[in-house]
Amino acid sequence: MRLHLTNAGAITLLDASNFKKLDVLVDPQPRERLDQAVARIGRRDGDDHILLAPSVLRFLSGHAGDAIWEAGFTGMIDYAARFGWVNERGEIRAHITLNDSDEVISLADFKAAMRALPAGISAITTGSGEAVAGMIVSSLTSISAEPPLAGFFVNQSSSMRAPLMASGRFVANILGEDHGPVMARFLGAPQGPQRFSEGCWSEGQHGLPVLTNALASLECDIVCTQPLGTHDFVVGKIRKTANREANPMVNFNASTHKLVQLALH
Ligand SMILES: Cc1cc2nc3c(=O)[nH]c(=O)nc-3n(C[C@H](O)[C@H](O)[C@H](O)COP(=O)(O)O)c2cc1C
Repeated sequence: MRLHLTNAGAITLLDASNFKKLDVLVDPQPRERLDQAVARIGRRDGDDHILLAPSVLRFLSGHAGDAIWEAGFTGMIDYAARFGWVNERGEIRAHITLNDSDEVISLADFKAAMRALPAGISAITTGSGEAVAGMIVSSLTSISAEPPLAGFFVNQSSSMRAPLMASGRFVANILGEDHGPVMARFLGAPQGPQRFSEGCWSEGQHGLPVLTNALASLECDIVCTQPLGTHDFVVGKIRKTANREANPMVNFNASTHKLVQLALH
């Protein structure tokens, strides 16, 4: 098995049922980020090794509790112990392999590809009273129906991130084609109540701002966040929704569009 400390932020276990080898694959990343990742899985042992807690491997495998996997895992630890690779605290010594084949596209290529992706536009809101906050996103996505989950990506440098995490809740208000002024205010005004001076806002559960004539409003509790590159993926469990029949606002090629229905022949 291979623990992968990605430079996207996620830590994953590859090849979890291969008990014949164990190493830690490290993507190129700033030392500070790498140190944070190492602290999540164990601790350093010199420049070339990491001492791993077996509980971390069991958790990341997704197979803990599965009798066949557990037998294989115990066999791997016994094997490592015979060679002196397991210390008195039960930590397993694993070699660091530097990932030197992490070729990626340029920023310009990334933007060109993503501009081709049409997406709905939503006003994400959080907080209540004078502490309301909001941002425009095109990354809202449906995740799961049972339980009902929806999520979006927030830039770690966005003024929305701190109020969002402090509140633990958000409302995703899906914008209609007549919500241009709401979008303009969210993009132009300073963070806080000033962003809510356009549009018809009411208070939802816990006092969060709900756009009363949104195509849909989804009131959510945050159940999971995951840093991925420059953004955090924020997942919400949907507690309440409201809908209105109207046409959406669509983001495409770095501008906003109306949706036109096509007749397919
Ligand atoms: C159409 C559109 C979609 C956007 N989608 C996102 C998004 O999904 N995630 C994100 O963090 N920022 C997104 N942004 C940028 C934010 O709306 C905002 O401008 C940026 O986070 C800076 O916000 P701040 O002034 O609130 O800090 C989008 C902007 C536009 C115009």
